[in-house]
Amino acid sequence: PDLRKEFDVVVIGAGPGGYICAIRAAQLGLKVLCVDKRKEAGGTCLNVGCIPSKALLHATERLIEACTIFPKMGIQCGEVEVDLSTMMANKDRIVSETVKGVAFLFKKYQVTFRTGHATIKSPDCIDLDGEEVRTKRIVIATGSAPASLGGIDIDEKQIISSTGALKLPHVPRHLIVIGAGVIGLELGSVWRRLGADVTIVEFADHIAPGFDRDMSRQLARSLQKLGINFRLNTKVTQVEKRADGLIVRVTPSDAATGTEGEATLSCDTLLIATGRRPFAEGLGLEALDIKRDQRGHIIIDENFNTSCPGIYAIGDVVPGPMLAHKAEEEGYALANHLAGHPHHIRRDLIPGVIYTHPEVAMIGATEETLKAQNATYRVGTYPFMANGRARANCDTEGSVKILTCERTDTLLGIHIIGPSAGELIAEPALAMNFGASAEDIALSCHAHPTLSEAVKEAALAAFDRPLNL
Ligand code: FAD
Ligand code: NAI
Repeated sequence: PDLRKEFDVVVIGAGPGGYICAIRAAQLGLKVLCVDKRKEAGGTCLNVGCIPSKALLHATERLIEACTIFPKMGIQCGEVEVDLSTMMANKDRIVSETVKGVAFLFKKYQVTFRTGHATIKSPDCIDLDGEEVRTKRIVIATGSAPASLGGIDIDEKQIISSTGALKLPHVPRHLIVIGAGVIGLELGSVWRRLGADVTIVEFADHIAPGFDRDMSRQLARSLQKLGINFRLNTKVTQVEKRADGLIVRVTPSDAATGTEGEATLSCDTLLIATGRRPFAEGLGLEALDIKRDQRGHIIIDENFNTSCPGIYAIGDVVPGPMLAHKAEEEGYALANHLAGHPHHIRRDLIPGVIYTHPEVAMIGATEETLKAQNATYRVGTYPFMANGRARANCDTEGSVKILTCERTDTLLGIHIIGPSAGELIAEPALAMNFGASAEDIALSCHAHPTLSEAVKEAALAAFDRPLNL
């Protein structure tokens, strides 16, 4: 590609934030260059995040079904065996085909893509591996990286981040996971389903931070049934590498309990899943006086302006949930803004999903938040056990919980734990974007028999009473 011409926009990072921003800006007639130090576009999400993790979650969930539900349904498939290298190869194929899709879209919309490390020289110039590129505006979409845990070196073999956990060559004997957040729960599930003993050590007194506490409790019970062992209120104090594996020392995280409950655990693999940090190294931000918050996020205003005019930022590198669809919304909105079009993001309505079994999905406020705000609210719940389709599918674990304003019936938060929760949350998300009430959902005809009827019944329960319960 000819980099001598001046671009309207240079986007640094080709993850879901950057590539959506680049495509949308090109659709609106801007001349766009998108650069990434990875050979392939797609960022964390497509290469080492959402897509490979979901490929492994899907495959291993089918494994559990084949062992537990198929026989119940009268399908005998003999002894079920796992061929891990084929499972991994299938995941790698899915990733490589998906990233090719982004390259295809870049071509289709005439976005120039270049592999290389970008450094910002000034608001109208970047250095791309020694080559100067001129541009009218710069978008930083450099994403995030795993947060390190003091003194523990990740070698991606014995001590791994999510990236290592997506490509282990063998099933660990005992996998210890530090952190019961989304990564710990999803990748802990994958390796437990494949036969590893899995212990998840969590600092807090509950799993799945940020989700409604009822959902967190139900999920903990389900994952314990799968055989995952949780050590809550616990922190890791030391990790020692020995010839025959790792020694992990843990102690209660609550100082008041003193040294009682200290323990030494042994494992062959340790997954560090204690969060991710914004990634902006090597960009040259300091010289440009681009302000960052205490956690390292680049500070932006409502139009994605950083503190340096002409330079914008989106995605995991700015504050807010570190989610692919949040990065995409920002990329789309910023491209519209750069082309002079209006834009709008409902930051309070970004759904969150944990792709375990059962899945957990949420949008809007949790009950804990409403309590903290002294809000007067109503709760409507409905169990999948009472839903015909869930029963027909032999998949009845979980429930729907709808929180509404007591006075107006307006939807305030929806929490689903159960089959296809991640898909089911789309309806409440749309409803909340339109400012709908529980009655609006309850009085919309839902096809029978579908899992979505559980959402309708929970809405009925919130404003009146359910029918099938
Ligand atoms: P990224 O996707 O991180 O992309 C940033 C890109 O910038 C990278 O490719 C990097 O190489 C490039 N870059 C950085 N610095 C430079 C530089 N100086 N020059 C050139 N290029 C540079 N989110 C969900 O919503 N759903 C999920 O199911 C989900 N699953 C996940 C599973 C795992 C295991 C992980 C780790 C994350 C998951 N996420 C999920 C989070 C999701 O991946 C991120 O929120 C998303 O990728 C953020 O997009 P982004 O565009 O901001 O940054
Ligand atoms: P997280 O923030 O979701 O969870 C980290 C957990 O580790 C918390 O429960 C925290 O209390 C615990 N923790 C922190 N320090 C600890 C310590 N020293 N000892 C014990 N526990 C400790 O972070 P996670 O799971 O690493 O995920 C990173 C990001 O990736 C998240 O922001 C998430 O949004 C994104 N992601 C999203 C997915 C999805 O949408 N399905 C899937 C995977 C990742």
